[in-house]
Amino acid sequence: VRKVHLVPKAHYGGRHAVTMLPGGGIGPECMGYVRDIFKYIGAPVDFEIVDIDPNADNDDDLKYAITTIKRNGVCLKGNIETKSEAAYVTSRNVALRNELDMYAYVLHCKSFPGVATRHKDIDIHIIRQNTEGEYAMLEHESVKGVIESMKVVTASNSERVARFAFEFAKKNGRKKVTTVHKANIMKLSDGLFLETSRRVAKDYPELEHNDLIIDNCCMQLVSRPQQFDVMLMTNLYGSIVSNVVCGILGGAGIHSGRNYGDHYAVFEPGTRNTGTAIAGKNVANPIAMINASIDMLEQLGHHFHADLIKAAVDKTINEDHIMTPDLGGQASSTQVVEAIIDNIDLYMKNKVSF
Ligand code: NAI
Repeated sequence: VRKVHLVPKAHYGGRHAVTMLPGGGIGPECMGYVRDIFKYIGAPVDFEIVDIDPNADNDDDLKYAITTIKRNGVCLKGNIETKSEAAYVTSRNVALRNELDMYAYVLHCKSFPGVATRHKDIDIHIIRQNTEGEYAMLEHESVKGVIESMKVVTASNSERVARFAFEFAKKNGRKKVTTVHKANIMKLSDGLFLETSRRVAKDYPELEHNDLIIDNCCMQLVSRPQQFDVMLMTNLYGSIVSNVVCGILGGAGIHSGRNYGDHYAVFEPGTRNTGTAIAGKNVANPIAMINASIDMLEQLGHHFHADLIKAAVDKTINEDHIMTPDLGGQASSTQVVEAIIDNIDLYMKNKVSF
């Protein structure tokens, strides 16, 4: 998807500075693989690495990370762990998205032919409102034993993300946008989101628009996912549907996601898990983070490097069948990365153009 939303100016020599937030769990090791590949191919990117301490009792690290993203415009990110379950400790991932006003999340879920899955030929773009809805983090105990949690839906953000989705569909030659909601129960909040998407749809007569209730959407997804093209939804439905679709396509280890605002773009593994239980064991699938780095190179206009890594990843999975156990393979994370580098080498030696 060659859609340039915002491209920061390159530094001297055409190089870009990019913030790297390794995060917790498998984040640091996956970032190491990305850096190995970038070094091997001489990708014109300099990473500014910011570690965020999940145990810190202040947000100094986070504030510094946000400052560097504002300076660089682009970031590659792992999931930042929220260690505390105390109500006053909020997710730094959510805070980062809100502070940078990255109102749209894009997850491209496309089948890898080499990964054995029940459903074939899926090609879905999930567009998720990324800064409000159920993630408002506004909860209180009104009287003892009664918790109220606010779901915030605004006309302005609904409009922005709907327009983003339809523009995205138009620019990328897609045919249909499906709005996912629960407006039959949440008549005001989801009702506003749905009505806004219907109104915006009128400006795009060339695109088909329909809507589905979230429950039915999940059933349709697991039974006949090929019917979906571009999907538009609020924040929590977006997280759930993302996990459903990634699960159908092989799990958390393959697809990448993109956070967009009007000024900044942050790239990360699509389901945003930490994978803490498998960290340090050399079994994590490195592909999701590598795909996030490909998205990032595309964004910066480094198409040659993006296409080269993409071709090598596709060959490794689809032709060589070198995969980690989550995809049914037997390779370690490092063996997958080595195979990708070997394929890059092959393409470079044969001067393959993309
Ligand atoms: P998790 O990190 O335990 O991952 C779920 C499953 O996917 C696990 O079996 C894990 O081993 C596997 N997995 C994840 N990445 C993988 C990879 N690269 N290769 C192979 N297998 C991989 O997920 P869980 O329990 O949902 O979340 C853990 C933390 O992540 C929590 O703190 C949560 O807040 C955070 N998180 C999760 C999100 C989600 O959509 N699942 C979204 C945002 C945050």
